[in-house]
Amino acid sequence: MSTSFNTGWLLHRTISGMNPSTTTPRPPLPAHHPRTATRPGGPRSRWWGLPLLRAMRADYLGFVTHLQRDHGDLTRMRLGYEDAWDLMHPDLVREALITHADQLIRWERGIEVFEQVFGQSVLVTEGPTWQRQRRMLMPAFSPKRVAGYAQLMTDAARRALDTAVPAGQAEALVPVDVLWTDVAMDVILRTLFSESAQADARDAAWATQTLSETAFREMFMPFTLPDWLPLPGKAAKRRAIRALKGLVQRHIDARQAEAEPAPPRSDLLHMLLALRDEATGEALSAQEVLDQCLVTFQAGHETSATTLLWWSLLMARNPGAAERAQAEVDAVLHGQVPGPEHLAQLPFLSATLKEALRLYPPIAALMSRRTTAPITLGGFDVPKGAMLRITPWVLHRDERWFAQADRFMPERFLEGAPAIPRGAWIPFGLGPRVCIGQHFAMLEMTLLAAMLLQRYTLHLPEAAPPCEPRMQVTVRPEEPVMLRLQRRP
Ligand code: HEM
Repeated sequence: MSTSFNTGWLLHRTISGMNPSTTTPRPPLPAHHPRTATRPGGPRSRWWGLPLLRAMRADYLGFVTHLQRDHGDLTRMRLGYEDAWDLMHPDLVREALITHADQLIRWERGIEVFEQVFGQSVLVTEGPTWQRQRRMLMPAFSPKRVAGYAQLMTDAARRALDTAVPAGQAEALVPVDVLWTDVAMDVILRTLFSESAQADARDAAWATQTLSETAFREMFMPFTLPDWLPLPGKAAKRRAIRALKGLVQRHIDARQAEAEPAPPRSDLLHMLLALRDEATGEALSAQEVLDQCLVTFQAGHETSATTLLWWSLLMARNPGAAERAQAEVDAVLHGQVPGPEHLAQLPFLSATLKEALRLYPPIAALMSRRTTAPITLGGFDVPKGAMLRITPWVLHRDERWFAQADRFMPERFLEGAPAIPRGAWIPFGLGPRVCIGQHFAMLEMTLLAAMLLQRYTLHLPEAAPPCEPRMQVTVRPEEPVMLRLQRRP
């Protein structure tokens, strides 16, 4: 076990918590603190950890926040058969996800739950299959390739944003969660299949939400009971899986039935069908194409829509920042449709999105990992078979890396601001399994946010509810979010 590792932070108790009024600066950490404990602290696991599991299920984010406050940055607890470790310091996160990436796999129970919908896609697979799929898919998601989808993105957004406030009206109360879900779904359908959202889009939005709720519930069960059992929620789950797979399969079938020579396409499905493994020359199997389309559809719209939803709410609550972003957009675009070439000229707008991702990371807890060999973390020996959990929500609200962590301050992401330690801001994850769609998502969200600000100013309605975050697979507000969109002169 290494003794030279700086473990001062390990004994440090965070003071940020969840309370928005707690903005006291943290005391400086000791440069070198000798570690005396032989194992990390953690809560007592009585009754096989059942009370802990119940507390997590009721309020996961509150549970982990208190865990760090009470037991430090590295904790260990027994949950049933699981030896669960929580990593809440950027150094530990990097050590696990980068240094020890080869000794980690995804937690099997999480994978079982996702596999029911996403089959053998890149989100789910491990080892050589994952390596092959990731290698084949990466070029399609490179910044250069993704820039080619910009027009499909802005085409999808234009109609929905133009009609968000009915013609002839100066303003309207708009359900922004519905607005962004519709836009993001249209974007992903156009980029995947060159088709815009049709009548089945509402059904797909319902299916996405239902599966997200079901997946979160099932993660806390030791196994999934068969879906054909007449249990609460099973019929809805079956219907949701059918709706989603049906939608994607219909598009694939339509493409394969096209007469030769097919019209040239620049969409993701065309790219998936044309992919060949550099090493073997093999194409993706029909099942793999379906599974990758499903994961791209689901992962590619729910997360962006959720981020834009929180971003809209934050902009409405912070009119000063919204005005600054709007002025930047006006000065750069002069009313034109934004494109990838404008991204570098919109640093403040981009900072507002990064700050929204910090305060409300849609994936607030990464998929848990399992160690496949003994490793060390922060100088402690972690045995083979341990479960590692990383929660961006907690890292992102830590006063040590983000002063006044509960406040919306986009300036922290501008050039010249104090550096943010690597591993402290990880909305897209870290290491080899970092989000494959991160460039796609940042491009999409910046274009869409700019287009909204070109058209409207966002206001909170009178007596707006507080919008408490609720964790499922993504973190969304408990209630629908209504904002007043005022047409700009
Ligand atoms: C704001 C938008 C997005 C956020 C916050 C986000 C977040 C994440 C995170 C945190 C992970 C890693 C999870 C882990 O390590 O356990 C991930 C993985 C992934 N994301 Fe995203 N994502 C976003 C958008 C997208 C988009 C647009 C796509 C596709 C078009 C996409 C496709 C994927 C895939 C396929 C993986 C699995 C990669 C692998 O395991 O190799 N995501 N995403």
